Amino acid sequence: MRRSIVAGNWKMNGNLEVNAELIAGILKEKSSAQGIEVLVCPPAIYVAQVSGLLEGSDIGVGAQNASAFESGAFTGEVSLPMLADFAVRYVIVGHSERRALFAESDGQVAEKARAVLLAGMTPIVCVGETLEEREAGGTLEVVSRQLRAVCDGLDADQLAGMVVAYEPVWAIGTGRTATPEQAQEVHAALRALIAEADGKAGLEVRILYGGSVNAENAAQLFDKPDIDGGLVGGASLKAKDFIAICSAAAGAKVTG
Ligand code: 13P
Repeated sequence: MRRSIVAGNWKMNGNLEVNAELIAGILKEKSSAQGIEVLVCPPAIYVAQVSGLLEGSDIGVGAQNASAFESGAFTGEVSLPMLADFAVRYVIVGHSERRALFAESDGQVAEKARAVLLAGMTPIVCVGETLEEREAGGTLEVVSRQLRAVCDGLDADQLAGMVVAYEPVWAIGTGRTATPEQAQEVHAALRALIAEADGKAGLEVRILYGGSVNAENAAQLFDKPDIDGGLVGGASLKAKDFIAICSAAAGAKVTG
């Protein structure tokens, strides 16, 4: 059985005081969400702080981005070994904001995902279509292209070990969530694509949904057979909402 994951992507939000309050709130409420993997992804500058605050807990720390290079003349970049120094075990790669605002290509996303796996960490590989692409009927073609670029050249263990996040661009930060049926259709297609390369990896790989997940809609989304949790933006900045989403994933796991 696949273990559900709920990951909070804080994006470029927070400060020392706000982060400490948020983590304290999450640790206080966390007992209602047992049996799933929970992680938070703060901005790189706060990874050390958040790692320290979470020491000894079972909540993981992820990065929102990382360089594919190990060290050298890459001004402004943060490497995987640097993140590993602060107990980071997950790295989001290819978030649509990085693709759209920082021109990350499918090829660069694939390089980063590979580097994360080689560093012994877990990439959370984001794919998703724009509204224009959906309305033109291109959803499955776009997400398949994005995922295929990453999967090419990975072995079965690497395919099974990565995490995929389906985040339709039109649902991110808009309050407009994909319906559970729309999300399930894409998740099933992504799983089938991985299963084509390796049947067992297709069964094992975890695929998260992201895009306006909140405490109200989480349970219905996580109830779908191919949705293994969520990548949560705005709602991960409030401890109560974040834990309610984690609890929904824990409940879906028990009953699903
Ligand atoms: P929202 O939950 O704010 O829509 O953001 C989703 C997201 O981009 C998570 O990576």
